Amino acid sequence: MIKKILLKRITMAVMTLLITGKAYAQHQKIINPGAVWPDNRGEHIQAHGGGIIKIKNTYYWYGEERRRGLDSNKRYVSCYASKDLTNWTFKGDVVQMTDPENLGQRWVLERPKVFYSKKSRQYVMYFHLDNATYKFARVGIAVSDRPDGDFKYLKSFRPLEHESRDIGQFIDDDGTPYLVFEDRPLGFHIVRLSEDCLSIDREMCLIAEHMEGGAIVHYKGLYYAIGSALTGWKPNPNRYATAKTLKGPWSEFKDIAPKEKNTYDSQSTLLLKVSGKKDTTVLFLGDIWKPKEQWDSRYLWMPVQIGDGELWLPEPAPFKIDVKNGTAN
Ligand code: DGJ
Repeated sequence: MIKKILLKRITMAVMTLLITGKAYAQHQKIINPGAVWPDNRGEHIQAHGGGIIKIKNTYYWYGEERRRGLDSNKRYVSCYASKDLTNWTFKGDVVQMTDPENLGQRWVLERPKVFYSKKSRQYVMYFHLDNATYKFARVGIAVSDRPDGDFKYLKSFRPLEHESRDIGQFIDDDGTPYLVFEDRPLGFHIVRLSEDCLSIDREMCLIAEHMEGGAIVHYKGLYYAIGSALTGWKPNPNRYATAKTLKGPWSEFKDIAPKEKNTYDSQSTLLLKVSGKKDTTVLFLGDIWKPKEQWDSRYLWMPVQIGDGELWLPEPAPFKIDVKNGTAN
């Protein structure tokens, strides 16, 4: 009897997968780097080049929505919520925008990052805004009163008048928000945002290295900055440097994984610190891009080995993250 029921369930699941292309939305216990990652609806998560913020006990993950069948005139940013970083609920496309600066048909909105301003009680989204040739090189800003949107477009600008393409976000332990951005002539900037997060307060540092996918984590008294080389959608060996303060001086950049592995075919987007009752885990969040089938781009999330100025991304393998205890295994 039990065998029969089990067989029926398996057949149903396989049928659903074959007919709808969707996996059964089940409670997931592990994160499987590089695999299709179903959300609460059983759809592969669409949050590419993303960022994550934690509001009370909920993580919000924003990213590029690239599912098939989107209106090609619009650009979309998705939002997902989770309490355990493993099971994600789709909260909708919180940005559905038509070319806000008349940049032309193939305009670009990439790498959205959301900050929460305690001062204005607003959620402020930064994104890379560009034209087809990537010459506009600005950040765009959209705001919302709620984490799950809708976000309304406000303005675009060049941070401190510099060219800005890939952006990254860093929120320090005291809550201070920082933006990192790639400036083709000069390098990798780290800037502090104003209290309302709507403008740049000041420059912390310019690292004279050309790095995309910039991310930073503050771990046991040291800052670790990570980034990739400029090779378009193709993966390359991502590297890291350390400093005692964000102003530097920064150490030499070193590989985060064996060079020949090309960051296991991924590109950095965020370093997420998960501090719990027992320990602190730092997760490397990367994108495995599939430029011709962007809807199928995957995620490489993996706990890093970190401490005493060293950071290492181990060979990807399925893992469990326990956000209450701050542990991963
Ligand atoms: C690399 C960047 O990291 C991505 O966000 C995207 O802009 C691609 N380049 C486009 O080639």
